[in-house]
Amino acid sequence: MASNSGSEAVSETSRVGVIGSGLMGSGIAEVCARAGLDVIVAEVNATALDSGRARIEKSLARGVKSGKLAEEDRDAALSRIRFTTDLADFADREVTIEAVAEDEAIKTEIFATLDKVVEADDAIFASNTSSIPIMKLGMATARPEHVIGVHFFNPVPVLKLVELVPSLLTAEETKTRAQAFVETALGKQVILSQDRAGFVVNALLVPYLLSAIRMMESGFASAEDIDNGMVLGCAHPMGPLRLTDLIGLDTTKAIADSLYSEFKEQLYSAPPLLLRMVDAGLLGKKSGRGFYQY
Ligand code: CAA
Repeated sequence: MASNSGSEAVSETSRVGVIGSGLMGSGIAEVCARAGLDVIVAEVNATALDSGRARIEKSLARGVKSGKLAEEDRDAALSRIRFTTDLADFADREVTIEAVAEDEAIKTEIFATLDKVVEADDAIFASNTSSIPIMKLGMATARPEHVIGVHFFNPVPVLKLVELVPSLLTAEETKTRAQAFVETALGKQVILSQDRAGFVVNALLVPYLLSAIRMMESGFASAEDIDNGMVLGCAHPMGPLRLTDLIGLDTTKAIADSLYSEFKEQLYSAPPLLLRMVDAGLLGKKSGRGFYQY
């Protein structure tokens, strides 16, 4: 695989669609709108759209409060985002970024629908998946050469990285245009990964998170001490259990399951405590309780 030498190309993308307005989708929509792009956000129903809009407003308000975002820029960003429950509204989108839950059946259905509704032959269909093969999403369409993984990190407005993941069938031109979009339009930094479960970051991060859960489960150390160990001893911005709460325990389990099913290595297998907490609805920050209370 060619190394990432940075994109010289200027992005000409102005119309973006984001599917899903959870933690990641709302962050991606916010970043696109703040970059001056015209954004449509799609959700399954009005309630989900309302919470997505509230999430974006809260994050923008945070920017205003910290003095990093002017009130008029907040208003301008919000005015660039339209909300819909109908994917037919994506007909004129140049780039669509799918960011729904890690469910292969739902994602492939969305890609099949996009293939039918998006008009431009060269439109890019991107997925923010962290673990589902891009090849599977590409094959749900009649244009796998235009399908690519564009994986953001949480919190999206804060973290600079985007993993760019071409499949075996992604066209070189799609890769170049997606990289220009991410780097020049959104101001993020790209690293390239092959289409393997977990890509670069999660393949390294998730075994570490699972080890911390195993350590706590076995009574080796408390959650606070494990987290303090990595924050104070290794200067990580947050410890592994608090980070699992931020990512979501359900998402962490979904990524671990994909890694395990791809590589069959024990270090990727989800420990029983994680499984029970997901069953109990203790999903982390988004549900109000995970390893900590919120
Ligand atoms: N939206 C917008 N801005 C946010 C934000 C959010 N959700 N969360 C934090 N910020 C901003 C704050 O406004 C603040 O900005 P200012 O300096 O302008 O005030 C800045 O980020 C720092 O935030 P805080 O002072 O509140 O708190 P902090 O210094 O403890 O940082 C953190 C919080 C940014 C979350 C930091 O702890 C961090 O980077 N943690 C690690 C996160 C991480 O590893 N993420 C990757 C997860 S893996 C993933 O996403 C991939 C996957 O597929 C699972």
